[in-house]
Amino acid sequence: MKLQIAILPGDGIGPEIMAQTVKALEAVARAFHHELTLCHGLIGGAAIDEKATPLPMETIDMCAACDAILLGAVGGPKWETLEPSLRPERGLLAIRSRFKLFANLRPARVWPELAGATLLRPDISARGVDLLVVRELTGGIYFGKPSGLETRDGRRVGYNTMIYDEDEIRRVARAAFEAARKRRRNVCSVDKANVLDVSRLWREVVHEAHSEYKDVELWDLYVDNAAMQLVRDPSQFDVMLTSNLFGDILSDEASVITGSIGMLPSASLGEGAFGLYEPIHGSAPDIAGQDKANPLAAILSAAMMLLHTFGLEDEARSIENAVAQTLKEGYRTGDLARAGNDVLVSCSEMGRLVAERITAGK
Ligand code: IPM
Ligand code: MG
Repeated sequence: MKLQIAILPGDGIGPEIMAQTVKALEAVARAFHHELTLCHGLIGGAAIDEKATPLPMETIDMCAACDAILLGAVGGPKWETLEPSLRPERGLLAIRSRFKLFANLRPARVWPELAGATLLRPDISARGVDLLVVRELTGGIYFGKPSGLETRDGRRVGYNTMIYDEDEIRRVARAAFEAARKRRRNVCSVDKANVLDVSRLWREVVHEAHSEYKDVELWDLYVDNAAMQLVRDPSQFDVMLTSNLFGDILSDEASVITGSIGMLPSASLGEGAFGLYEPIHGSAPDIAGQDKANPLAAILSAAMMLLHTFGLEDEARSIENAVAQTLKEGYRTGDLARAGNDVLVSCSEMGRLVAERITAGK
């Protein structure tokens, strides 16, 4: 099969983790006889430096010609003083929006091989953590108008608008119910309906959409309670459906309780097979360029791509198995290494180990 993939490394640790992801993909392509075409493009700060915009037209056109996008991370201190519309983050928001990638799937689980690394009490993690955050990605307060910074009566004010229309809510709710059908058929919808009007509509529409999915269980939580329950007993959750801002926050929380934010991949999907795949962590400028980053979230994002965009289950599983095997043998990047039997490895060594195990596993 021909796999044409846009590679957007971005900033900070983005290029390092993306180089390891490419190694893994090349190993998959060799083992399963696929023809890989990789197209490299600029986004974020790297694009600002070269093209004076966080999402150049060339990048958009190149991505549109590909089947999927693999993205590293964007942002860093160098660009923090720029005005908001020129920031690296704006490139990421724009590409999600441009390709109408409204459903962001962020799976969080405790890898048995990493059970010692979770932040949870042993009796809590023993109940198991395997959940999927489905975050609305192209609406809500991230994109709502009006928004701005201005001076009113001599005082500075800043404001954003949290707004959803029913169609935006319905399509992401359907994505969550569909995802739940492939899992444990349980959806928890997270909102703030005790305070926010936008959340009251959210809840109403999610329940309407549920009428087509009666085989899936649906329950609601307020976001503050959800944040607490996620730490208190994450085993309650199968699919957690929520809005853009709440999902941003809850997915970081879900990731770190499982051990490291460096393990969590994501898929951003629209109506078709096209998707954007990226680790949920950021550009980690503090360790950039030192070959220390954990490339596994990026590598696992490539596995999600093989599954969702290309329907290649065995290939996706070969990456996941290789990651599990590498961890089982005790190899850890700095974010996960503990004393004892762990073997501390660099980002590039981790990439090589995973690629070797993909090749050996076939
Ligand atoms: C994420 C990130 C982004 C977001 C930033 C970098 C714009 O935090 O993907 O979770 O807020 O969506
Ligand atoms: Mg985030």
